[in-house]
Amino acid sequence: MVAEMTAPVPLDQETNPWLAAAARFDEAAAKLKLDDGMRKVLRAPAREITVNIPVQLDDGRLEVFTGYRVQHSIARGPGKGGIRFAPDVTLDEVRALASWMTWKCAVVNIPFGGAKGGVICDPNILSDTELERITRRYTAELFEFIGPERDVPAPDVNTNAQTMAWIMDTYSMHSRHTCTAVVTGKPMELGGSLGRPEATGRGCMIVSSEALKLFELTPETSRVVIQGFGNVGGMAARLMKQQGFKIISIIEYDIATYNPKGLDIEALMKHRKETGSVRDFAGGENMDRHEAMFLECEILIPAATENVITSTNAARLRCRILCEGANGPTTPVADEILMANKVFVIPDILANSGGVTVSYFEWVQDRQGFFWNEELVNERLKEIMVNSFAAVVAYAAKHQVNNRTAAYMLAIDRVASAIKLRGIYA
Ligand SMILES: NC(=O)c1ccc[n+]([C@@H]2O[C@H](COP(=O)([O-])OP(=O)(O)OC[C@H]3O[C@@H](n4cnc5c(N)ncnc54)[C@H](O)[C@@H]3O)[C@@H](O)[C@H]2O)c1
Repeated sequence: MVAEMTAPVPLDQETNPWLAAAARFDEAAAKLKLDDGMRKVLRAPAREITVNIPVQLDDGRLEVFTGYRVQHSIARGPGKGGIRFAPDVTLDEVRALASWMTWKCAVVNIPFGGAKGGVICDPNILSDTELERITRRYTAELFEFIGPERDVPAPDVNTNAQTMAWIMDTYSMHSRHTCTAVVTGKPMELGGSLGRPEATGRGCMIVSSEALKLFELTPETSRVVIQGFGNVGGMAARLMKQQGFKIISIIEYDIATYNPKGLDIEALMKHRKETGSVRDFAGGENMDRHEAMFLECEILIPAATENVITSTNAARLRCRILCEGANGPTTPVADEILMANKVFVIPDILANSGGVTVSYFEWVQDRQGFFWNEELVNERLKEIMVNSFAAVVAYAAKHQVNNRTAAYMLAIDRVASAIKLRGIYA
């Protein structure tokens, strides 16, 4: 399938997330020699729910919003995956993200399946009270389908700890008892886990450090470029700077800032908070955001959004290691170019799995009613990330495939074995 996609394909097809997910799945399934029946089972989402939710706006008007929840697989445990609020949410995108969650949870071997949700709405023009009503009605509509043993949502684009608190409260009201384990990424006061806000960025740092060892490089001699200065990119920047990495550029949606000697990340965070942008940061120079992606560096971390590395720019990247903090930043066509250029790719389903791993810890702690200190959370996260990185790299070497295909093969194999052991019911 990937080979087929190397023929020139229109960019809208190249960047269709569902086609990209299917291409990766097909390639790995073929390499695994997965039988046709199992391919059919794993290729299609197990359940897709569409809800049209009536919500009264602040001015009294009634509006209907469309929301989705896709459960790709619950073979290894409850569904797990975020909920995004955005005007451009599509069912195809939610499907792709749900399948990525299945593979991500399997790569790090945590007992969850994969799911994802989304509501088509524009949070920029909605008030907090309107967002709360959308969240609560969406949760109520999904009541039978979510739950600690069924499907456990989390924050994603434009949703946050407050959104999770509303979901937890709505679910608990319907259940007639407080149920914290129905969502993760909650506020600390409501059963959230220490270390969760930093977890995805920390995971990126851990796998990047493991990759450096393969190249016999050290953090001090490694230049890092990060696209996206939000939760993932910001935390990765902060933690990597603390470990001695030289963060030479931060790229945001409007502009990049660059300092070949390394940026002062804490000062940049302060500047961004005060001005709303990384533009005109005193400790760096403004740079075109597209050009900054092509800076020579040891590690490039796309941690903003999907489809930023495509057939149009992949050949110009000058990084040795590409650590995918975002979901789906690289298209299948771009993958081929990166492979030809010997870029060491740490694929998204491994690189950004620190978030779901600590979400798993949050779910465990909520169910136990016993909370861990931050040191223990970070220690257990490190163990899982280091072992998963080693497993993927060893798998790639053994099967002579790239890291992405290896991660998919490892994950698909684990999910397929679970299904085989369970057997097909009726
Ligand atoms: N937060 C998590 O735990 C987590 C876990 C796994 C994967 N991810 C993925 O990581 C990515 C980032 O998530 P986040 O939680 O950090 O989001 P976020 O909203 O906190 O941060 C995203 C940042 O990227 C910037 N941005 C948006 N478009 C950009 C562009 N085209 N170029 C440069 N910068 C741009 C935004 O201004 C923002 O600062 C998403 O793909 C998300 O699905 C997040």
